[in-house]
Amino acid sequence: MATTKNNPMEITLETSSPEKVRTGVLVVGAFADGALPPSTQKIDEASKGKLSATIKRGDLDEKAGVSLLLPDLPGVEAERILLVSLGKREEFGSKGFRDAFSGAAKALANGAAKDAVVTLADIEVPGRSSVWRVQEASRLLADGAYRFNAPRAKNNNKKNPGTKKIVLLTSEKVNDKAKTAVRRGQAIAEGIALAKDLGNLPGNICHPPFLAETARALGKELGFEVEVLEREGMRKLGMGAALSVGQASAQPCKFIIMRYQGGGKAKPIVLIGKGVTFDTGGISLKPGAAMDEMKFDMCGAASVFGAMKTVARLGLPINLIGIVPAVENMPGGNATRPGDVVTSMSGQTIEILNTDAEGRLVLADALTYAQRFDPAYVIDIATLTGACVIALGNITSGLFANDDELADQLLKSGNDTGDRAWQLPMFDEYQDLLKSNFADMSNLGGRPAGAITAACFLKRFANGFKWAHFDIAGTNAVSGDAKGATGRPVPLLTEFLIGQAEGRASGMTEVRGKAPVARAA
Ligand code: BES
Ligand code: MN
Ligand code: ZN
Repeated sequence: MATTKNNPMEITLETSSPEKVRTGVLVVGAFADGALPPSTQKIDEASKGKLSATIKRGDLDEKAGVSLLLPDLPGVEAERILLVSLGKREEFGSKGFRDAFSGAAKALANGAAKDAVVTLADIEVPGRSSVWRVQEASRLLADGAYRFNAPRAKNNNKKNPGTKKIVLLTSEKVNDKAKTAVRRGQAIAEGIALAKDLGNLPGNICHPPFLAETARALGKELGFEVEVLEREGMRKLGMGAALSVGQASAQPCKFIIMRYQGGGKAKPIVLIGKGVTFDTGGISLKPGAAMDEMKFDMCGAASVFGAMKTVARLGLPINLIGIVPAVENMPGGNATRPGDVVTSMSGQTIEILNTDAEGRLVLADALTYAQRFDPAYVIDIATLTGACVIALGNITSGLFANDDELADQLLKSGNDTGDRAWQLPMFDEYQDLLKSNFADMSNLGGRPAGAITAACFLKRFANGFKWAHFDIAGTNAVSGDAKGATGRPVPLLTEFLIGQAEGRASGMTEVRGKAPVARAA
């Protein structure tokens, strides 16, 4: 079972005066123009202007999140001050707040202090409540401590294990709402860490049976039901589309169903995660460059595991079902050929023109399977198309929905967490691009609008319920020096689910009713 090496971060809330706290490191913020938030002001006064002098000299970067470590500041009890840039004051908002916390989290994770007191959550953010600040702060601090436990011959751990105990300082009295916000932030970070771990594991370890075992272990740990259909069970249900993807792999296909029941008789929300544990492209083999990154092709599934973990940890009063069709897409003597025709569980037939367009095939049968739960919503998450990466890059996830109210709620949850998505259309006119002479449809829409035609393909299987589809091909992982899974869109999904538990669009807002139009935000 995959686990991070890091013990969970301990985060607590306290109301006290920053200049008097004894701690390994006291984290304070300052704006680029030298303006100081109230708590930083107090430190500056206690140190007889040493802080403001440092800023005046130009030592603090203008970019939010860049920090400066100042040891042994006179007049202050803390061993060190971590001075974090908040960026330009006029530009300070949700992004500056998050950047400051991500920067602080990184510095703490690599620093020598075992415990820290952080004042940044007390800084006002336009349009955001103090509950929002505390939850985001907790999540970002815990998430910033994530490290993947890579197998190496020599234990080359950094000298410093990093800060493990953090106190969030607030000027407001600590109340239950704030405590809940801390718990939520931590639980979301735990879900993100699980999603990152699963994504980062290589294809030879994280294969369909491994995902099935992970689900079973999670169910045991967190108290939810897990059922796994084997190839035979899938065949009996008629899942010809999903099975066609995994049929040349030495690893058996697994169809995983997780059922968390915290919401009594309420209709469940179903999450479906694309679980292609490695995508070679099959007979339509992918080019070699960066093919290793196709181990990330199960990040949709990973985000479902992560969301299940967060929701179960928090004991949210909702019913949540996680479905993960897990397969490995390999070439081989019994692989699906371009031109093969398969019959999906829905009865609709599909001509497979490209075996590399496999995600939609596994999702199609999972969507049909989801019908049996009479769900309130079905949301699938998939690293589906390179076209989505071209359209939105690695900043924004693609969102498609057959229900605009659901789309608005999801967009809002993305906006509230910085884990943003953007809605793309599924106009019926696009459906013509999926015509086949030999079956009900082909699995290939051509290069133009590739993310959209993939979504339009899925729409043919999303019948009888409100449905949304996330294309996370650009946002699930980063390449280059920092190569690794991001855990997205766990923040968005869990925020949406917390909102559902509270009967509103997104968890952290106090606004009731229909979400404001987040498309333009
Ligand atoms: N897993 C890929 C999509 C992908 C591409 C994810 C890049 C992450 C980064 C998916 O299965 C795929 O191969 N899609 C094809 C579809 C095409 C053949 C219609 C693509 O996007 O090229
Ligand atoms: Mn593919
Ligand atoms: Zn794929």
